[in-house]
Amino acid sequence: MSLKEKYRELEEKNRAAELGGGQERIAKIHESGRKTARERIKDLLDPGTFVEVGKFVEHKCTDFGMEKQKIPGDGIVTGHGKIDGRLVYVFAQDFTVFGGSLSRTNANKIIKVMELAMKMGAPIIGLNDSGGARIQEGVESLAGYGDIFYRNVQASGVVPQISAILGPCAGGAVYSPAITDFIFMTRKTSYMFVTGPDVIKTVTHEEVTKEELGGAMTHNTKSGVAHFTADDDQQAMMMIRELLSFLPSNNMEDPPVKPCTDSAHRQDDKLTNLIPEDPNKPYDMKELITTVVDDHNFFEVQQHYAQNIIVGFARLNGKPVGIVANQPAMLAGVIDIDASLKAARFVRFCDSFNIPLITFEDVPGFLPGTGQEFGGIIKHGAKLLYAYAEATVPKISVVTRKAYGGAYIVMSSKHLGGDVNYSYPTAEIAVMGPDGAVNILYRDKLDQVGKTKAVEDYKDTFCTPFKAAGLGYIDEVIHPKNTRLKLIQALEMCENKRETSPPKKHGNIPL
Ligand code: HXC
Repeated sequence: MSLKEKYRELEEKNRAAELGGGQERIAKIHESGRKTARERIKDLLDPGTFVEVGKFVEHKCTDFGMEKQKIPGDGIVTGHGKIDGRLVYVFAQDFTVFGGSLSRTNANKIIKVMELAMKMGAPIIGLNDSGGARIQEGVESLAGYGDIFYRNVQASGVVPQISAILGPCAGGAVYSPAITDFIFMTRKTSYMFVTGPDVIKTVTHEEVTKEELGGAMTHNTKSGVAHFTADDDQQAMMMIRELLSFLPSNNMEDPPVKPCTDSAHRQDDKLTNLIPEDPNKPYDMKELITTVVDDHNFFEVQQHYAQNIIVGFARLNGKPVGIVANQPAMLAGVIDIDASLKAARFVRFCDSFNIPLITFEDVPGFLPGTGQEFGGIIKHGAKLLYAYAEATVPKISVVTRKAYGGAYIVMSSKHLGGDVNYSYPTAEIAVMGPDGAVNILYRDKLDQVGKTKAVEDYKDTFCTPFKAAGLGYIDEVIHPKNTRLKLIQALEMCENKRETSPPKKHGNIPL
């Protein structure tokens, strides 16, 4: 072969790999409102930074006439590139090739970039669009999934793992994303289910649409499997870029600091009247968060799920923080099973990746009722408790209003290792609210004492932060308008925090 022919061969092979399953199938993808694997990677990465790995790898299957159907790359695009100038690894399933299904070869390509990501200390991003195990390959494909799950677990807490679900993802295609840290889904074009509507109909006789069963809103509101919804592929890629801006590349790094033009000394008079005088009146905790953080920019995680608790990322004086906050505007901010799970997973993520935790607390307690008790609020609530107690990153909290009972202890209290615990003068820290408390304290004598007086006495004694501040459980009672500066000062104080846990293989969180 002449030199010219060799270059032509390279060109042709490149073209064949880039065409995937062909123009017709690409057109079908576009018609469905999706983008191809390569278009997604282009949107995700800084321009011109993508370096492809394994472009010419082919499958080895010889069953069902597969030896005649080989496409270079075998339906998955893998490699590395940059986001905001920082190294990331990426794999993108190409639905135009056997429906993005996972072959042995396909799995090996994913494993290769996952191992590189771990070795180089860089995040791994999976763009999923796959019909699951490649049926023609049988157990080879299942083995491939098992090998990927194993790497997902090895990488957990070492490098951030991010998944986007951008098409129908069935069977094995959903379990790898489920082990990763964050899942993005696109509205109306992405689905996740272990078994699809047809199988469900056969087995349980239930009739359900793909959208109801595993669409973006189902997993963002009901199941809590997903963390973000995007309108389309392009928006999903932009959101992944923004999420990564808050995260370090690996667990040995600190999160990236951005130059901050928002003054640390900014006072916020609007916070003076945010907490209503009537303790039973709701207010929007998100207003407090967005007021306090740099440039009012709060990147919320699981916005649509368990809205009685808020979690997400923001910056304070340029430094990324993870925020956990009760939401009095939803179910009075009570902690239930879903809220415990949502917050516990977020706290553990932040702790894995050296992101300080800021907690805003206004919580009347755990949600009572048989539904919650039978559902295991004891073990699920214990997860949040465990997560906070286990976390060794800086833990700073502000009690804005109610901090009652076990919920007081759970939410980053001094007793679980809180480093700085602030409260507003409006805080009420007690075993329970005044109404419930006087009924138990005075029982039969309530008529004699008078309920109104009993409640007033209780409020004077316990519904104030000064009892807790007098015992040192609250470090400082602050004016709400100074919240931003106080949090920044506390973060600076905690800058070089060192805390180690006793040696162990791993703890036994109540799963
Ligand atoms: C091989 C597959 C495939 C698969 C789809 N294709 N899934 N090829 N293995 N798993 C092929 C189709 O034959 C078709 O080829 C092309 O991909 C596009 O598929 P369509 O059905 O035309 O697309 P669409 O209508 O959009 O439907 C997508 C889909 C459907 C919902 C994903 O294809 C589907 O139900 N596939 C099977 C899903 C499944 O049961 N997977 C196994 C799960 S079990 P042509 O040549 O016509 O373009 C599993 C076990 C692992 O994953 C468990 C580990 C825990």
